[in-house]
Parts: sequence; structure tokens; C-alpha cells
Amino acid sequence: MKHNSRIVVLASGRGSNFTAIAAAIESAEIPGTIVRLVTDNPVAPAIEIANQRGIPVQVIDCGSRRGRIRMAARPLLLKCLADADAIACAGFMRILPPSIVRAHPARILNVHPSLLPAFPGLESPRQAIEYGVRVAGCTVHFVDEGTDTGPIIFQAAVPVDASDTPETLAARILPHEHRLYVSALRLLCQGRLTIRGRQVIIEDEEQT
Ligand code: GAR
Repeated sequence: MKHNSRIVVLASGRGSNFTAIAAAIESAEIPGTIVRLVTDNPVAPAIEIANQRGIPVQVIDCGSRRGRIRMAARPLLLKCLADADAIACAGFMRILPPSIVRAHPARILNVHPSLLPAFPGLESPRQAIEYGVRVAGCTVHFVDEGTDTGPIIFQAAVPVDASDTPETLAARILPHEHRLYVSALRLLCQGRLTIRGRQVIIEDEEQT
């Protein structure tokens, strides 16, 4: 990949992963530039974060069906991603359609607040508590045509306490998301990630 990758971030909400990525770019930890933030939520706090950092924002009306991107929104989304070397889903609560995933092979990353393949989809910390697991965590993975099913790059585990609520568990997981997402995006931008079957091979892994 190029020395200065063009990165598009997709986010729906708070934007803490977006902030972690933007900070890592500013400190030159990630060799790239965020060329735009794309959001499906016109009141996402992530928009204000982008504005403060001078990052262009595109709001796309993805429709009211939870998790889906309506057909009419797809051409604009494709256009917003067309110049990207790397695409980072950072709390983007929509499933990318196959046409978009196929247009960007091995270029789209996602962070998910569970140890995949456990608890894909929405409200993963709540799912983990309700299931009764003792260990939870997060996963950074490539996006494929499924829901949270793509090849795994990094995972981190945290304990689940008996007193945890979905909020306290999510808060324990979050710093690990930020750390792993920055590491994975750096490797992608450095061209050091290769997908082989379901496995992700990291070039010079000892230097991560
Ligand atoms: C993060 O915990 C992320 O893992 C999760 O949404 C949160 C967004 O936080 N994503 C998913 O659940 C995707 N299925 P942020 O807006 O502060 O980065």
C-alpha cells in the first residue's frame, strides 16, 4: 500500500474509535490521512469530532431499517469509498452490502465488542452478560459479506464481573478496541496484512 494511505472512516455514533484513529494519524503512528468521515446519523457526535479536526463529513440517509443500507443510498456510499485505500468501520451500525465489500477486497476493517465468532450483531456486551460468559472482549477483523464474520486480525479479552452491566462491560472493553484498531489499521496501511483462507498473516509480526 502507499506510504500515505487514504482512509475513509464510517461511524454512526460517539466516535471514540474514530478519535483514536485520528489521534494515531496525527502522531504519525498510522501512515495515512482520513479523507472523510461517512455517517448514517446526522446527529452523530463523531461529526463534531471530524469538524474539530477539519475532516470532511458526508451524511448518507441509509433508511430506517435497522442495520440495513437502503438501495437508493448505495451509489453515494460507493462513491464516498471509491478513492479509499483503507476503510475503517468504527461503530458503524449498518451492514455493508456485498457490492461494496466486493469493490474493496481486503481493505475494510471493523471493530466489534465481542470475542468473535461469539455474539455478532448488536448489543454484544449485553449478549455476553445474558449468556453468562466469564470472559468477553473485542475483535478487529476484515469485513466480508457476512455480519461480523470476516478474518480476524486481533482480539483482546477482559474478565466479566458478576456485577457488570452492559455499560460497565463495554467500558472495560473500549480501551482495548482503541489500541487494537490503531495497530490493525497501521498494519493495513503499511501493507503488512495478507488474508489466507480465514487466517490473517502479519508480515514481521514481532515488529507490531
Ligand atoms: C464500539 O464499542 C464498537 O465496537 C461498537 O460500537 C461502539 C462504537 O463506539 N460496534 C459495534 O457494535 C458494531 N457491531 P465509538 O463510536 O465510541 O467508537
